[in-house]
Amino acid sequence: MSESIILGIESSCDDTSAAIIKGNSILSNIAANQAIHKEYGGVVPELASRAHQQNIIPVVEKSLTKANIQQNAISAIGFTRGPGLLGSLLVGTSFAKSLAMSLDVPLIEVNHLQAHILAHFIEDANPMPPKFPFLCLTVSGGHTMIVLVKDYFDMEIIGKTTDDAAGEAFDKIGKIFDLDYPAGPIIDKLAKEGNPDAFRFNKPKLENYDYSFSGIKTSVLYFIQKEVRKNPDFIKENLKDLCASVQKCIIEILMNKLEKAAKDLEIKEVAIAGGVSANSALRKAMEDNHKKSGWNIYIPKFEYTTDNAAMIAMVAQLKFERGEFTDLRTGATSKYDL
Ligand code: KG4
Ligand code: ZN
Repeated sequence: MSESIILGIESSCDDTSAAIIKGNSILSNIAANQAIHKEYGGVVPELASRAHQQNIIPVVEKSLTKANIQQNAISAIGFTRGPGLLGSLLVGTSFAKSLAMSLDVPLIEVNHLQAHILAHFIEDANPMPPKFPFLCLTVSGGHTMIVLVKDYFDMEIIGKTTDDAAGEAFDKIGKIFDLDYPAGPIIDKLAKEGNPDAFRFNKPKLENYDYSFSGIKTSVLYFIQKEVRKNPDFIKENLKDLCASVQKCIIEILMNKLEKAAKDLEIKEVAIAGGVSANSALRKAMEDNHKKSGWNIYIPKFEYTTDNAAMIAMVAQLKFERGEFTDLRTGATSKYDL
């Protein structure tokens, strides 16, 4: 791997992040999270792009200081071109372009989804990187898909959600329970003290490797409405059991399809990526498959699971080695296939 120093910039949703990579080693990975969205129970696009504008310069400066490097040591600038919120993407894209122009270094566009997957190749993400071909369950607030990764830039989506993403399901169900946004990590925490078999919710019956999470959300909503009519304190009195049961159901839905894909394709290299891969029940289910089915499992370090610029810098480094540079006229794109 080239030892070039590259700056990565991520601004696809509500985290403004900048990272410096040397080879595949991360020298700094700085993120400014936007607390403002908590008040609204979800990301407000207009507020997100405004906060990116405020955060981007201090975040990039901090990434340089933490890595202890000067601007003129940077060989290229990688940025998230998409997918994501257009207004948010535009802030990172415009900033990356102007900095690349002023430093006279190449610009490298990065697909955010590829970056979640290729984060596994960051030096300290895993004790060992996955071997091709591997399966990667990519689960975040915006995406849920099983990807067959044949090579760094040769990926095929073999299954994906037909409605909500898994993280979105955690967040929306959390809202029904009156939890703060994002509810995923809160449900995970409360579930630790609850009984996962206390309540049962509907699971979708889809034939292939596709997912659906709108059914469980509706099933929880109707169940809660019915119980709250009988006992207004139902949620409060059963919160931990509700969280544990919902989490069990979502993780079972995710794992059933992943197990089926691994079996059908006879692949034992299995990775997870994206914000929901921080979930403790998902991590445990992966470990169970390591013991039970001999999977070699790849669960990235926590800081590389949620949106971060380290993963953007990693992809930019791989593209830099291949001489894949981006024209300064290239624009951000809200939709961007793998
Ligand atoms: O990858 P990410 O940071 O942003 C997107 O690209 O969407 O993922 C954020 C999502 C949110 O829906 C959040 O609730 C979920 O990941 N999440 C979790 C956990 N930590 C984050 N869901 C379940 N359990 C967790 N521990
Ligand atoms: Zn993401």
